[in-house]
Amino acid sequence: MVNWQGFYKLSWQERLQRTMVNKHLTEAQVTLMQQQYDGVGEQQVENYLYNFGVPTGLLLELPINGRLMTLPMSTEEPSVIAAANNGARMMRQGAGAMTISQTRLVRGQVVLVNVTDMAAVTALASQQKATLLQIANEAHPSMAQRGGGAKDVVFEQLDQTTAIINLLIDPKAAMGANVVNTMSEAVAQYLRELGYDILMAILSNYATEALTTIQVTVPFAALATKQGMSGEIVARKIAAASHIEQLSPYRAVTANKGILNGIEAVVLASGNDTRAVNAALHAYASQSGQYRGLATWRVTEDGLLGELTMPLLLGVVGGSIGIVPAVQLNHALMDYPTVEELTSGVAAVGLAQNLAALRALVSTGIQAGHMALQAKSLAVQVGATVAEVPALVQALQEAGQFNEATARDLLQNLRATF
Ligand code: HMG
Repeated sequence: MVNWQGFYKLSWQERLQRTMVNKHLTEAQVTLMQQQYDGVGEQQVENYLYNFGVPTGLLLELPINGRLMTLPMSTEEPSVIAAANNGARMMRQGAGAMTISQTRLVRGQVVLVNVTDMAAVTALASQQKATLLQIANEAHPSMAQRGGGAKDVVFEQLDQTTAIINLLIDPKAAMGANVVNTMSEAVAQYLRELGYDILMAILSNYATEALTTIQVTVPFAALATKQGMSGEIVARKIAAASHIEQLSPYRAVTANKGILNGIEAVVLASGNDTRAVNAALHAYASQSGQYRGLATWRVTEDGLLGELTMPLLLGVVGGSIGIVPAVQLNHALMDYPTVEELTSGVAAVGLAQNLAALRALVSTGIQAGHMALQAKSLAVQVGATVAEVPALVQALQEAGQFNEATARDLLQNLRATF
């Protein structure tokens, strides 16, 4: 009979032991967990066993706002980092990406239910605005001292008896979840004391007051392919593909997944909350009532003009950023960006990733570049040692068939020859 009783109260060694017994783990699997133990990780999550590593590589020289950014990317997927670098290479041949606009306010929602006098709540939100802001700011005074804090109050009626008082808060260099929740709960408590029935108070991850717009013009010459397709033809095809993303939600989801390949990899590496970014991005992609691609591309006299607007609420302090050594290393790799720089960089990665994917899709097809890079993972999957990987990858490329059966046969041949 499997026993998990009191698992969370056990020491790490005891938890490992219990897991080993309950899940019939091998010695090698237990050793792996021991090797991946991390004292900081144990403080971060509950029922801790080990740290699950994610391969991290570099996106180099992403041109953004007149400088070249280095961005670490953490992802398990082959070809994502190569594609981001490929996108950055094309962007560098123009003037680079520019941040066209950026806002940074976080919304805290205080939900009132069973409201009997909606007019009174409306009046309270406008007439007592200064008081509500003061209560919010007093709950976290250091934020206001830094020039941030609660800035505005927006009233919203949901139905006859339900309303939300929204606080708009500037979290400065932080992502803001904790400060916004603290401030919202303080305002909720004040409203309770006035006799209102408060259901809950929590930040919204739908960060429509934290929008970033990035724009880039890529010259035609940068888009030409080695196979001989002219840059202008590639540009026209990318613009056509972009149009499809506005019409077909099935295509739009895949395109946005491609954008997230890069965005999520940098968000994760920078110690930010990938789920918050994902949830907001998808909601924003649906704001018209139909799910659409977030990046758009059109042909102009100067080249291919790309634009991406998305909600993006990141931080460069707080959360795991101050405590996880690998995250601190990643901030050093990025030359310690400000929150505005990191946000612009992350949005620009999304555009670079989309550009590289679309160029591949409308020219060679995705498999040529993607599978060539996936060949290394395929080699490991069929049992090649690290030393055997290069020869097997070369054999796979020569065969032009990237599947498990071919990889197994080729590995056998290789071993027979040596
Ligand atoms: P290529 O043009 O065949 O190769 O690209 P290249 O050797 O000419 O390289 C071009 C540039 O790519 C290089 O420039 C590098 O910047 C970069 P250079 O420095 O030589 O002047 N690059 C690399 N960077 C790091 N490591 C490497 C590497 N190789 C090239 N090993 C490439 C090959 C794979 C880059 C290209 O085919 C490509 O961009 N493909 C797109 C791949 C992709 O999007 N992968 C994501 C997974 S597929 C997916 O999930 C998304 C998708 O469904 C989204 C959608 O549908 O919209 C496709």
